[in-house]
Amino acid sequence: MALSATLLAAASLAKANATALGVCMFLLLIIYLIVTYARLSHVPGPFLASFTNLVRLRWVLTRKAQYVHIDLHKRYGQLVRIGPNVVSVGDPAEIQQIYGLTGHFIKSAFYPVLQPHAKGAAMPGLFNTQDEDLHRVMKKPIASIYSMTNLVSFESYVNSTMSVFFKELDRRFAETAEICDLGVWLQRFAFDVIGEITFSRRLGFLEGAQDVDGIMHSIWHHFEKAAPVGQVCWVDKLWNKNRMLAWLWPPPTSPIVRFATERADERKAKSPMEDSDLNNRDFLSRFIEAKSKDDKVPDWALTAWTTSNILAGSDTTAILLRTILYNLLRYPATMHQLQQELQEAADKGELSTDAVTWSEAKDLPFLDACIKEAGRLHPPFGLQLERVVPPEGAVICGKPFKAGTIVGINAWVAHRDESVFGSNASIWDPSRWLCEDEGQRKTMERSLLTVSPRKPVFSRYG
Ligand code: HEM
Repeated sequence: MALSATLLAAASLAKANATALGVCMFLLLIIYLIVTYARLSHVPGPFLASFTNLVRLRWVLTRKAQYVHIDLHKRYGQLVRIGPNVVSVGDPAEIQQIYGLTGHFIKSAFYPVLQPHAKGAAMPGLFNTQDEDLHRVMKKPIASIYSMTNLVSFESYVNSTMSVFFKELDRRFAETAEICDLGVWLQRFAFDVIGEITFSRRLGFLEGAQDVDGIMHSIWHHFEKAAPVGQVCWVDKLWNKNRMLAWLWPPPTSPIVRFATERADERKAKSPMEDSDLNNRDFLSRFIEAKSKDDKVPDWALTAWTTSNILAGSDTTAILLRTILYNLLRYPATMHQLQQELQEAADKGELSTDAVTWSEAKDLPFLDACIKEAGRLHPPFGLQLERVVPPEGAVICGKPFKAGTIVGINAWVAHRDESVFGSNASIWDPSRWLCEDEGQRKTMERSLLTVSPRKPVFSRYG
């Protein structure tokens, strides 16, 4: 009797404890939700997004996140809370504060997600490191290589790839009347150009009409995976970049790094004597020279630099080219206007060859306008370029933000701002860049997050 009473008392005590624990946990959860919500309660946005990043993950999984972001800004205004600690900024006037050289907004944890693996560990590069000191060490010796003066010296290599491109199009399509997927061919062209300027070697995307070593597919797969994982970065830390797991099961070297390393090895194995076509001032030669002059640069920098060119330079260029061609074909009046501009320049003897040079292109306003308009209308990246509010906090679009808040501008949103680009901001209209009002033109240029032909990316982004 006494035993059963004791057991009953113990059971009811356990039940009371469990209830108390449940109540405590519930209260803790409520407090957590209130604190999480309060952090950015002054910023409007979808209610659920205040509590979980799964909402923005879902948008990315639709593969149309850029359109979701545009709609959100139409609904909520220039600031939209898209995660518990993440704010999307729509106002292009904030570009300078968030991305300018004078600001101290470092890259968010989204960027390491973009680091490929090499020799069992994540390999940081210029584009995807959060470490400002490493970025400085890696960038200083090579920044001048990306200056416009230097880039122009690559022009003849781009031209030689261009003549192969036209020859292949003539041979395979113009002469046979076969249908050409110009998008794919422009992508092959962009990859061969990057190969030519980085390793002095056209890699055979055009001549072979192929995806050499599956690299296009690998880059697609890399970004396809990184975009959603970047919305919930802890998954990457836990699974992909976990040192313990990497020690137990070393991750394989990324095909992108392997590709860059193999091309660099092939290129280094050649001497100018062996190959008369070798451009001994290609990126790789200049990287090797830059590294030899600076002891602070780590050994793996060469691989990181060449990989950066492939990862950051090939698809971006291909997307821009595709956008230009697509819209010129879709809007024949603009194609006609461009052809007319080129013809007039040729008739006046202002063009030296069929391939318009950089210095000649600068004086062709409609061509310049088409390039800017393509970068505006279809930026190669569809998500916010995330940055972290510095320790002193910041005021963005008139609202205060605490240190550590993640903020970012999606170029797709900023580039459609009607107060800057006019009521036709969502359509192709290169003539907007020819407007007489210089102040307006400058405001539009400052509102571009893509590279403008007059502003190479290295001068814009620290
Ligand atoms: C239309 C073509 C291109 C566009 C629109 C573009 C755009 C950009 C943007 C917006 C950034 C900054 C990204 C961020 O802060 O999150 C960037 C960085 C970078 N881009 Fe490009 N890019 C293009 C072509 C290229 C090419 C051809 C190369 C190399 C040959 C290249 C190499 C890089 C590198 C190395 C960085 C990192 C710079 C740094 O962090 O200091 N890009 N690009």
